[in-house]
Amino acid sequence: MKILITGGAGFIGSAVVRQAVALGHHVVNLDALTYAANLANVASVGNSPLYQFEQADIRDRAALNRIFSTHKPDAVMHLAAESHVDRSIDGPGDFIDTNITGTFNMLEAARAHWQAAGRPDTFRFHHISTDEVFGSLGPTGQFDETTPYDPRSPYSASKAASDHLVRAWHETYGLPVVLTNCSNNYGPFHFPEKLIPVVILNALHGRPIPVYGKGENVRDWLYVEDHATALLIALEKGVPGRSYAIGGENERRNIDLVRTICELLDEMRPAGAPHDRLISFVIDRPGHDARYAIDPSRMREELGWRPSVTVEEGLRRTVRWYLDNESWWRPLLDRQGVGQRLGTAP
Ligand SMILES: NC(=O)c1ccc[n+]([C@@H]2O[C@H](COP(=O)([O-])OP(=O)(O)OC[C@H]3O[C@@H](n4cnc5c(N)ncnc54)[C@H](O)[C@@H]3O)[C@@H](O)[C@H]2O)c1
Repeated sequence: MKILITGGAGFIGSAVVRQAVALGHHVVNLDALTYAANLANVASVGNSPLYQFEQADIRDRAALNRIFSTHKPDAVMHLAAESHVDRSIDGPGDFIDTNITGTFNMLEAARAHWQAAGRPDTFRFHHISTDEVFGSLGPTGQFDETTPYDPRSPYSASKAASDHLVRAWHETYGLPVVLTNCSNNYGPFHFPEKLIPVVILNALHGRPIPVYGKGENVRDWLYVEDHATALLIALEKGVPGRSYAIGGENERRNIDLVRTICELLDEMRPAGAPHDRLISFVIDRPGHDARYAIDPSRMREELGWRPSVTVEEGLRRTVRWYLDNESWWRPLLDRQGVGQRLGTAP
């Protein structure tokens, strides 16, 4: 199958690109190469005859038309997005433009391509979204595919809007779409502004490890390679018009997650131990959702997927990877905004 993957130079998209090529799919990676991108993430497949790269912006409809007519993909996996909640608080405009208007452009370019090809039933537009569109849970309960939308940050609101557009293009035009809403990912190649790499890298440098509020927010953590596997299964087996909630079955309070990473570093880099002395509680993110948790029954029962990596094992692999790959993360520390506290605007 020839798959057009948007955002394939980012964290999750690059994992999908690597796995899709390994499975023998032809991949066209469409990415604007924003601050969050890194072509080193896909270096392992860069010379494969199955891989092509197109630098393009999903806000540029003409560029999308050209790419669809050049490559004639059998399927689209749409991951390109502005993805950092803290940046969405400081500058929501980019999130509206890329996540909403960019998704609209992708849907229109895909629809024109699909109609020109005779509306094949086998075509797929797979939209990759987040569990954050469902809002915030109390101490109990889980999100599933029937949970009403209740986004609370500019990021999650822009993703919710894009989900609605994708569903509308299915109902109105018959475009064969599949949606997935996933919980927090972590693992190798995670850009160093997100919680887990921030903890690892600040601890390694002996700098304060910022924990928002009291660290009591709960997230359901999924190892990124498990997410990429789930996405490729949903692409192939998902029913058009249906959505699938993907989760790690690994709920953790942020503070417990941070302490676990510190313990792993104490073991693997004992020179700085105990690393948890660096934990520093900082002012909370405005509108910080208290808890996310996913009920992944539909993925398990209908598509036969479940996570293969526990959070203990995944964190161990992730810490090891950052220790072994300084040449990957070191240059990223100079990118705009990295290492600064963002998203505190009232
Ligand atoms: N990270 C998570 O925990 C998580 C969880 C669930 C869903 N998601 C969703 O998965 C997708 C990928 O997330 P990620 O964490 O890999 O993000 P990321 O920020 O690491 O990567 C995003 C990629 O999209 C590209 N991009 C951004 N704007 C673009 C534009 N206008 N045109 C073309 N390319 C553009 C960037 O260059 C980058 O390579 C997003 O849609 C996100 O909402 C993420």
